[in-house]
Amino acid sequence: MATKPSHGSGHGPASEPQAHESVSEQIIVRSGSPLEGSVRVAGAKNSALKLMAATLLAEGAYRLSNMPRIVDVDLMAELLRAVGCSVERDPKDTSALRIDVPARITPVAPYDIVERFRASVVLLGPMLARCGEATVALPGGDDFGPRPVDMHVKGLAELGARVDVVHGNIEASAPQLLGARVVLEFPSVGATENLLMAAVAAKGRTVIDNAAREPEILDLCRFLQGMGARVSGVGASTLVIDGSGTTELLQSTDHAVVPDRIVAATYLAALGVASGEILVEGARYDHMELLCAKLTEMGMIIIGEPEGIRAVAPRRLDSVDCSTLPYPGIATDCKPFLVTMLATASGVGIVTENLFPGRFRYVDELRRMGADIRTDAHHAVVRGVDRLSGAPVRAHDIRAGAALAVAGLGAEGPTVISDAHHVRRGYENLVGDLASLGADIRIGQADSDRPGE
Ligand code: EPU
Repeated sequence: MATKPSHGSGHGPASEPQAHESVSEQIIVRSGSPLEGSVRVAGAKNSALKLMAATLLAEGAYRLSNMPRIVDVDLMAELLRAVGCSVERDPKDTSALRIDVPARITPVAPYDIVERFRASVVLLGPMLARCGEATVALPGGDDFGPRPVDMHVKGLAELGARVDVVHGNIEASAPQLLGARVVLEFPSVGATENLLMAAVAAKGRTVIDNAAREPEILDLCRFLQGMGARVSGVGASTLVIDGSGTTELLQSTDHAVVPDRIVAATYLAALGVASGEILVEGARYDHMELLCAKLTEMGMIIIGEPEGIRAVAPRRLDSVDCSTLPYPGIATDCKPFLVTMLATASGVGIVTENLFPGRFRYVDELRRMGADIRTDAHHAVVRGVDRLSGAPVRAHDIRAGAALAVAGLGAEGPTVISDAHHVRRGYENLVGDLASLGADIRIGQADSDRPGE
């Protein structure tokens, strides 16, 4: 049986994984008054997980601050422990994680943890670099279509690794990685990260062309530089890594994680639906420029300030067309929020998905709430309605769950989101944060969660 959710007071320490808890957790949301006040964003999930993986490159004690207190970080902590590390939250500041990496690690990421989240595939590069071999079970993850790893495999092979997929595992080995030029077919975030981390231990120069440029990649480059790696071209689409042929020269370091631009986008979308004025503290305008431009086109006022992003939204937004693209384009993770905002905007907007073709499952849930959305291949045509109608809906992944919570802010009557535990994989406290801005939102328990059932 699931245990009671812990929203509101933050989550437990990294030493207490919570991934299987609260499987029937619900979020219950109603429309209410305009949002008002300020809310702080934590560090980015998609950087935090990769920095944790990168610690495996060198023995020593690391301190990662501004770490989000989310389930995926707990899962990555479990993986690092399985490999031999010790991982603890700082009891005095639970947003900081201390990781002790021993002199010898076991370079195997077991299936029982890997199947619970896809980011585990980024252990491949650092474990291979450190140990000359690595086994990572093929990842599971979000419910939005196929998530191949062929670019990771091909790139590592170009650095001289032998990579086989056998018995559900990716098995890589390389007595000595060798620098090479790798051209990515697509600027894949995960493949860029795996290759970066492998290349720091390769002998000689590696050039990664068509590398992903997301702020989280930049954060990883800075972290690797802090460990003593020679990485240049940071923030550009050609990364150059001068590897020393070993990880022996790298050392542990401290690092503060870059703020989460997708969580920030979620709060801006909530404002877009509910109207009002908020400050998203810690959010980096320069990491979200194209999204902010789009929101401005929809009628919001968005101002980048030293302490975050201030935003004002009118009672009803105007529709726009938009496409998701690799950074600096609008992130695919923001798409569910854009579709949700358009669902109650005035006019018709077309949203085109260019990264994950299958990422439209939440649309069926929005339709259950009265949204007028037609999908055709990777396009969604959204005709805004005056008001959505609250309904029972299901969260299929992290962002879909958050988008449905946002949709509920613009719906007549209660929206009850089941499988809401997905949201805790990527948000510290979505419900508490929105409630602190004045939203009518709370955590509930599904029937199957009641004692005796
Ligand atoms: N792709 C391949 N082959 C590969 C790798 C990727 O075909 O070997 C394809 C994917 O199928 C997809 C596209 O390339 O169509 C982009 O995938 P990418 O590798 O860039 O994504 P990822 O590393 O698997 C990360 C984030 C996602 C985010 C994407 C795109 C993490 C843990 N995940 O995934 O975030 O949507 O980049 O920006 O960093 C989330 O946070 O909820 C989330 C899903």
